[in-house]
Amino acid sequence: MDRIFSGVQPTGNLHLGNYLGAIRNFVRLQAESECVFCVVDLHAITVWQEPAELRNSTREVAAAFIAAGIDPQAQIIFNQSQVPAHAELAWIFNCVARLGWLNRMTQFKEKAGKQRENASAGLYVYPNLMAADILAYKATHVPVGEDQKQHLELARDIAQKFNHDYGVEFFPIIEPLIQGEGTRVMSLRDGSAKMSKSDPSDASRINLTDGPDDIAKKIRRARTDPEALPSEVEGLEGRPEAANLVTIYAALDDATTEAVLREVGGTQFSDFKGRLTELAVARLGPIGEEMQRLMAAPGEVDAILKHGAERASEIAEPILHEAKEIVGFLNVR
Ligand code: TYM
Repeated sequence: MDRIFSGVQPTGNLHLGNYLGAIRNFVRLQAESECVFCVVDLHAITVWQEPAELRNSTREVAAAFIAAGIDPQAQIIFNQSQVPAHAELAWIFNCVARLGWLNRMTQFKEKAGKQRENASAGLYVYPNLMAADILAYKATHVPVGEDQKQHLELARDIAQKFNHDYGVEFFPIIEPLIQGEGTRVMSLRDGSAKMSKSDPSDASRINLTDGPDDIAKKIRRARTDPEALPSEVEGLEGRPEAANLVTIYAALDDATTEAVLREVGGTQFSDFKGRLTELAVARLGPIGEEMQRLMAAPGEVDAILKHGAERASEIAEPILHEAKEIVGFLNVR
């Protein structure tokens, strides 16, 4: 059976992009495969996190997984720092990955920005830890949004180089799963920028914890162009803001953008925004409410994470043990 692994950073402001690009697909995949879903707190601290907020955000991501419909009894939900195999395997991968590979990572360049000299070393080797996350479980399929594609290619290269250098067929080849209409949800304020947790403008994203009023306000204020919505034939080319809203609608409605345009082509944005708000509230409302309930019951969430960490360790420890043998670490215990 395939094993699925994916991770989400506990850095606050979980948003519609995280849901449509990733979490929603996790929920679907659990019917077919064994799944391991990780709150990646080790990744989070590659940029500064307030300790109390980090703890809170860790519970919040776990709550989002559960509220979205992942069954915490059937699947594994845990936070990364509780399973030491991730950090240990990441060290081995630090010695497998080449500097040239890391230098090509666009996300590092974006996140480090002009402050490159001041970025943490952890931010630089971030993709090696991601490879360790996946390969510590010998996971084969990784559901993510579009922005993680390059990191997964690097993880693939790491697995291949490890296998090649040590002359083994140990780590599997990873397949990214980038599925559905919402693989790259854009900012509501700027159709050329990705919807992101770190955008200083809260109006740029719909947070999973936003209530109906906030959702309505943000969609009403979302940037559009002055034309009516295009027909299916005219299409969305060259109209990034319209494309984003139609894509969000399609993703929430489990439809294609073509089908949505067939229905709404020629209408005004004001009408379409009303429909989009209704749909978004219907889909996200129950998730936000269940997240609030779980956040008010931290003991419940912590128990799920504890159980998840135990089950995750049972899978990862033997794989790490074997990797250490392959590398040639003398085992004296
Ligand atoms: P993170 O926490 O930034 O995002 C979590 C997931 O949400 C997706 N995503 C989006 N999808 C569509 N539109 C958007 N605007 C959008 N923004 C974010 C991301 O692609 C991701 O799937 N490095 C990862 C976490 C990670 C990981 C892993 C993922 C660590 N280890 C191992 C897979 C496997 C990250 O920072 O995701």
